[in-house]
Amino acid sequence: MSDTTPRRPLRAAVVTLSDKASVGLRVDASGPLLKDLLSGLGFEVGDLMVIPDDQGLIEAALIRLAEAGGFDLILTTGGTGLAPRDRTPDATLAVGDREVPGFAEAMRAASLAVTPHAMLSRAVAVIRGSTLIVNMPGSPKACREHFDVIAPVLDHAVETLRGEAFECAASEGSSG
Ligand code: MTE
Repeated sequence: MSDTTPRRPLRAAVVTLSDKASVGLRVDASGPLLKDLLSGLGFEVGDLMVIPDDQGLIEAALIRLAEAGGFDLILTTGGTGLAPRDRTPDATLAVGDREVPGFAEAMRAASLAVTPHAMLSRAVAVIRGSTLIVNMPGSPKACREHFDVIAPVLDHAVETLRGEAFECAASEGSSG
């Protein structure tokens, strides 16, 4: 591709998983925050979704966004912990074709430097088709901390999934 070829915009969706926010008992601060952070990176962000912590509903939403929605990236927030209804990672793994462990490894490693509670997030990242799905914890503070970790690689991850990346951006400075 030549440098002058306009690139298709990067498209992202944000899904908040919260029983309380889904019925208006809590204001969802994390979804709008992630939308702002993604916009700041140049992503076009679709309408925010808030759905209850129901594994079947989460799976259906992720499949719809990845397939009909054609989003490059889906960020979820909430439902990654140990509570009985925290099912986001389970739903994400169920709809994924391939796991991308580096995202969760990096986010947890960075978060452990901030709080031991990072151990309590079961967040995962997967690919479904050509869509990358990444889980974030529910609190806005945790979302910002996690986002800062993955932000530097999102662009290249999407390009790679689209088949638009011909060279690995990480190869600068490496011997290979
Ligand atoms: N990670 C970071 N970086 N900062 C945090 O404050 N909170 C933790 C953890 N990960 C936290 C974090 C807590 S208290 C919990 S219970 C888990 O994420 C799961 O959160 P969730 O169930 O809202 O997804």
